[in-house]
Amino acid sequence: EKAGFDHFMLKEIYDQPKAYRDTMGSRIAPDGKRVTLNELTITPEAIRNISRVHIVACGTAFHAGMVGKYVIEKMARIPVETDVASEYRYRSPIITKDTLVIVVSQSGETADTLAALREAKRCGAHVLAITNVVGSSVAREANDIITTWAGPEIAVASTKAYTSQLIGFYLLGLHLAQTLGTQTPEEIAEVIAAMKELPAQVSEILEQAEALKVVAEEMAKHDNLFFIGRGLDYAVALEGSLKLKEISYIHSEAYAAGELKHGTLALIEDDIPVIALATQHELLEKTVSNIKEVKARGAKVLGIAVEGETELQKSVDSTFIIPKTLDVLTPALSVIPLQLLSYYASLARGNDVDKPRNLAKSVTVE
Ligand code: M6R
Repeated sequence: EKAGFDHFMLKEIYDQPKAYRDTMGSRIAPDGKRVTLNELTITPEAIRNISRVHIVACGTAFHAGMVGKYVIEKMARIPVETDVASEYRYRSPIITKDTLVIVVSQSGETADTLAALREAKRCGAHVLAITNVVGSSVAREANDIITTWAGPEIAVASTKAYTSQLIGFYLLGLHLAQTLGTQTPEEIAEVIAAMKELPAQVSEILEQAEALKVVAEEMAKHDNLFFIGRGLDYAVALEGSLKLKEISYIHSEAYAAGELKHGTLALIEDDIPVIALATQHELLEKTVSNIKEVKARGAKVLGIAVEGETELQKSVDSTFIIPKTLDVLTPALSVIPLQLLSYYASLARGNDVDKPRNLAKSVTVE
């Protein structure tokens, strides 16, 4: 079942190139110029009437939703709010007929997410689910479904489900943009072309796994560490930090890099590991100055950088390079080294990687 891997998590990390391909699958026109989400029933007219989008999910799926917010706002220019499902209903969200509510759930059985879905439907919203389980409760009750074709995910720590959810959001963002005319045909074709490169680029990253093992073994000696990043890198930092906590039990915090100096910098001391995501071209200079802030306080910084950005390498202690893609697509690559770091840190600490303490794969209580 583990296909020769030591753990399901590792197998599932290596399943990702296929999961990307399968999730894109026939949803891209053969000429590469359009996406074809033929499964959606929402009409172009209803799409034009959407006044706001709510993305609701838990845990890792919520982190995918944070990327989704960025993607939809950038591509379709519709305002998007994100909520963790356990909070959504209790803040009296403004849900109207022209609200598109997107619920994201690998299992499709998460109680809080299901409750949010039901509340959204009760208020007359159109509910679109991004889920990995055909026939799950979420899939059955939503008005529309984008199925992620990641295949069964057994490890409690979500990996390929998260990245397939990202692909789902890219496809949806493009579909909305096509319908609304918010991106030119050239821009759409450019994103699609870059998406097609992602599976091979993930494989390239996986070939460097051994290098991350060494870094993770060093990390595993510490009790605290930080992830920092700006923009999409911040969303990925949150996911990297959750993954590390979940299976290695090492405490970490993810911080928007520019927010450090508003309190958190007080925790930076000699030798503390900081993983700095710096993949967003426009934000690079700003992130580098935040890296200098932690370096000056003795932090040991691992930078996650895009190929060709040599400037960053001068300000960090070590760098992990990911292949070049469009800024908007980087989360689909930058999260892979973070998944591997968590895996190897968990292993180094002798934990049960696939079944971390206190946690269940599917959370069916509110
Ligand atoms: O099945 P779901 O996507 O609804 O699950 C949501 C979370 O419980 C889940 O993503 C959790 O955070 C993962 N174990 C994290 O790796």
